[in-house]
Amino acid sequence: MENIDWGSLGFNYMKTDCNARYTYTDGKWSEMEITDSEYIQMHMSASCLHYGIELFEGLKAYRGADGKVRLFRVEENAKRLQSSAKRLCLPVPTIDMVVKACIEVVKRNERFIPPYGTGASFYLRPVMFGTTAGLGVKPAKDALLIVYGSPVGAYFKGGIKPMKVAIDREQDRAAPRGTGDVKVGGNYAASLMSGENAHELGYSSVMYLDATEHRYIEECGAANFFGIKDNTYVTPKSQSVLPSITNKSLRQLALDLGLKVEERHIDIEELPTFEECGACGTAAVISPIGSIYDMDTKKTYSYGDEVGKISLQLYNRLLDIQYGRIEDPHGWTTIVL
Ligand code: PLP
Ligand code: COI
Repeated sequence: MENIDWGSLGFNYMKTDCNARYTYTDGKWSEMEITDSEYIQMHMSASCLHYGIELFEGLKAYRGADGKVRLFRVEENAKRLQSSAKRLCLPVPTIDMVVKACIEVVKRNERFIPPYGTGASFYLRPVMFGTTAGLGVKPAKDALLIVYGSPVGAYFKGGIKPMKVAIDREQDRAAPRGTGDVKVGGNYAASLMSGENAHELGYSSVMYLDATEHRYIEECGAANFFGIKDNTYVTPKSQSVLPSITNKSLRQLALDLGLKVEERHIDIEELPTFEECGACGTAAVISPIGSIYDMDTKKTYSYGDEVGKISLQLYNRLLDIQYGRIEDPHGWTTIVL
């Protein structure tokens, strides 16, 4: 695409050539349908509009140093989509359906896949929702699964520059045994108010604490949290945190680099002991955390203005695999083009 300034893309939607769709009606899924329409026609009483019966995924395709286009851990996203669908009593698509749609959308929108070296990538957004018209609160019998994509730049404008985050206890993102561990729209709606408040005060993101005691770290905006100390990668274990595929990958890469890995409760009292902290996710990649401000205690925990050594090693290793600069030791990538 000659008139896209790839280097200055933000994390925004851009219209591409087409998207892929599956419809669930009368107890079965349709074949995959490809359309150039960005719109859907839906009944005003569709269950997703009233009761939040909606879920989504996010993954990326990268044009590598060798010119090939790779999807990163697409089956993992498909599995997580299945667990979100189960949680919302929606019909569960097969892994194959999701993977096939992602591959098709990448192939058919090749001209929107940013060139290697621009820092941009092609973000895929599978989204699924209940479409049954009705009034009562009950599971949807009909659903639509759409996979579309958009070229994107960095989610956090600072890139790999450390960001400021704030601990806010005013609103929780997710409750224990709620829906925090699945990727459903309601979690994001619940996080908006605290997110906006933090942005207005100059913070990039909110650090959420557990909803019971407000003592343990959960996650950081739309990304998981990790801390590094004593040659150990530490990340929260909680039933209300989204199981991040980036975090899962970083745990493996940390082990590969000879670090220890701990998944456990992280009390905020432990924050001063970390040498490095970061947020990780598909959109966030690794966003180092420079400081954490606690809005209640007014304490600030600082980690410096430069990305930490281990965070940078992990970041480089992850991108090396995603951009095909090194061999893919764990079989995480799918070459599409
Ligand atoms: N946590 C939340 C709440 C998210 O929205 C995301 C983004 O997907 C993540 C964590 C990171 O997950 P992943 O690495 O699978 O993108
Ligand atoms: C992702 O990292 O893929 C996300 O879904 C984050 C997002 C909600 C923008």
